[in-house]
Amino acid sequence: MRPIVEVVNLAVAFPDSTRGWRRVVDGVTVALEEGEAMGVVGESGCGKTLTVLALLRLIPEPGRIVGGSVRIGGEDVLAAEERRLCWVRGAMVGLIFQEPAQALNPVRSVASQVVEAARLHGEVSVSQAHALARRLLAEVGLEDPDRIARSYPHQLSGGQRQRVLLASALAADPRVLVADEPTSALDTVSQQRMVELLQRLRESRRLSLLFVSHDLSLVGRIVDRITVLYAGETVEVAGRETLLADPKHPYTRALLETRVAIGDGPDARFPTVPGRVPRSRDWGRGCRFAPRCPYALRQCREARPALTVLERGRTVRCFLLGDAEEPVA
Ligand SMILES: Nc1ncnc2c1ncn2[C@@H]1O[C@H](COP(=O)(O)OP(=O)(O)O)[C@@H](O)[C@H]1O
Ligand SMILES: [Mg+2]
Repeated sequence: MRPIVEVVNLAVAFPDSTRGWRRVVDGVTVALEEGEAMGVVGESGCGKTLTVLALLRLIPEPGRIVGGSVRIGGEDVLAAEERRLCWVRGAMVGLIFQEPAQALNPVRSVASQVVEAARLHGEVSVSQAHALARRLLAEVGLEDPDRIARSYPHQLSGGQRQRVLLASALAADPRVLVADEPTSALDTVSQQRMVELLQRLRESRRLSLLFVSHDLSLVGRIVDRITVLYAGETVEVAGRETLLADPKHPYTRALLETRVAIGDGPDARFPTVPGRVPRSRDWGRGCRFAPRCPYALRQCREARPALTVLERGRTVRCFLLGDAEEPVA
């Protein structure tokens, strides 16, 4: 069976100062199987959010998708006409973002916003939509949903606002939930509760989940497999246990080592790796991680490795690992 979400070799570009186009994502490949939870990790600036936006053809102007393919539920998203795109955005995929404050309208009550989401994607009457909104607010664990429904966003905590957004995202009963840094604006306790809620919803609604975060230890708590992005491309994909116990790509290893060094107690900081993610204008012709890689050889600075299948269920983009294997993208 084909994956329910399938991104192959995605490229996204923005105009640069020379009136040309500069690719800021180039080589992202992610597959989400029906019913599974896939984590997408990488430091800030690696292309996680643009990948999420590309899934629904929501790249902000003047950006453009300039390469690769996106299939969701069998639909070719990049070629889809408006009506099919609405179907993908509603019935197939629910989306939540990091900043619930920005995604909610400050001058409208919670009820009207969830009701609108419910009506946008389904043929329901106003009273049915109100009943559905109330059910959704209760389902995402908001106590006293009637009071929450009458509230305005500024009267709620960050954790409550994120749940309201989640309720809206579930209004059309999507098969896939895409969560882009859903807990990054929350305190540790709300963060933990949100992770538990997503787990619960995943089971009760049989959702497929794409969980995007810079925080590998957080992702590791909830997903079945992990895709690691670096500088606009996929560098490693593996099952959660395999990846955490035996990371192959030097970048994944560095991410994990820093995580261990920092610890995962309440004061755990972002995993950071010495050096920083290069801006796209500084991508050379070689491996994009080579300038930070302790193992880089001359070859790594001269050519870009392909994403290759290392073993079943594991792909890696690295000359040191993927010698004779079959390229996937
Ligand atoms: N609106 C934009 N215009 C130009 N470049 C952008 C824009 N949005 C993102 N980028 C570029 O794309 C890169 C990836 O961004 P993003 O997907 O937001 O990363 P992440 O979510 O992993 O932090 C950024 O480092 C930035 O250089
Ligand atoms: Mg982001």
